[in-house]
Amino acid sequence: MENFNYYTPTKIVFGKGTESQTGQLVKEQNCKKVLIHYGSGSVKRSGLLDRIKASLDNEGINYVELGGVVPNPRLSLVYEGINLCRREGVDFILAVGGGSVIDSAKAIGYGTANDGDVWDFYDFKRQAAACLPIGAVLTIAAAGSEMSSSSVITKEEGLIKRGYSNNLSRAKFAVMNPELTMTLPAYQTASGCVDILMHTMERYFNQSDNMELTDGISEALMRTVMKNAKILKEQPDNYEARAEVMWAGSLSHNGLTGCGTDGGDWATHKMEHEIGGLFDVAHGAGLSAIWGSWARFVLDARPERFAKFAVNVLDIEPTGSSAEAVTETALKGIEAMEEFYRSIDMPTSFAELGVRPTAEQIRTMAEKCDIGTRHSTGIVKKLSVDDMVEIYTNAL
Ligand code: NZQ
Ligand code: ZN
Repeated sequence: MENFNYYTPTKIVFGKGTESQTGQLVKEQNCKKVLIHYGSGSVKRSGLLDRIKASLDNEGINYVELGGVVPNPRLSLVYEGINLCRREGVDFILAVGGGSVIDSAKAIGYGTANDGDVWDFYDFKRQAAACLPIGAVLTIAAAGSEMSSSSVITKEEGLIKRGYSNNLSRAKFAVMNPELTMTLPAYQTASGCVDILMHTMERYFNQSDNMELTDGISEALMRTVMKNAKILKEQPDNYEARAEVMWAGSLSHNGLTGCGTDGGDWATHKMEHEIGGLFDVAHGAGLSAIWGSWARFVLDARPERFAKFAVNVLDIEPTGSSAEAVTETALKGIEAMEEFYRSIDMPTSFAELGVRPTAEQIRTMAEKCDIGTRHSTGIVKKLSVDDMVEIYTNAL
């Protein structure tokens, strides 16, 4: 087991009707003025935004608001938010939405609390010294940003999608009512489930020795998400299934499933961010579109790990212990995972994703990914630009 730090300062308030406690939770933060940050309309349509405002009004909290965050959140709105926060003296940001809204809130928090261009942090130029405190009312189980240290922003100029991680941005609290996710389109629910799975799979596929407890937690989490994703396809209003998936979303990306490991691979994520940046696809759908291609490409570096995943997560019967048998079991696991993705209507190729990158675009994505990871994509197998071109191409 490797040494590790596990830092999860976020207070979780989970369950039915919990959004009514938002005003009280914000009040505990002792702030003067709040920015309520939200997306492109779902929180207005559902009435959630009005309920949140009423909850803040009840506690006599002053606020301004900024909506309009889109999936793959844009830097231009972040700048707008920073200007608004400075002008209005905002000292707390309440994100009401999904990963995109929370990530945008984190970027506004960095930009307001530090001088200079906020993009510098995403462009590896310097580290943030502070971040405005953030709270979240989560409306989609997916990115895990409500408990993670990350924020992923897209700079329109050059279509550059980059993540920045810093514990300063971890949310002070997250309100998580699974009922709020029942208005999600089926595609977003399924895409969220893929992202949750992938946050644990990225950590599971590593170059560390076995860590029994972390592996067990990870395998249980993955089995739980797969089971409940299938239930939600048939019964989108199933509260228990919504709740299992929502809690899994936070645990999948708060560091728990990486304790004692080298941190995991993350190549699929980094390569997907290039797809999201260029083609503006839903993050989870982009992940499932290329995962199988990545897995087959790196399989020979860790066949026993893939075989363990096949047996413990996908119930594949091992065919034996010889090298050939292990690889056969591993391959069956990859196929079963792709079959699961298809069973919840998630893509397993670019064609199924509805995107047709040209050879030139594929090379551009691979080169940008290489720059974005500072020439260090992948841990199971370290990937060169040519390797990534091959993985993208095999996923066409
Ligand atoms: O904008 P609105 O109208 O709210 O619509 C959103 C959006 O279109 C909709 N939605 C959300 N809650 C809803 C709802 N529609 C109906 N009812 C509800 N209750 O769903 C769509 C997707 O929302 P978004 O916030 O984009 O989803 P998600 O949470 O998947 O976030 C995706 C972003 O997070 C980044 C991704 O790259 C992507 O940019 N990630 C952030 C991470 C982090 N900060 O730790 C880690 C992840 O790996 C990921 O990279
Ligand atoms: Zn993700």
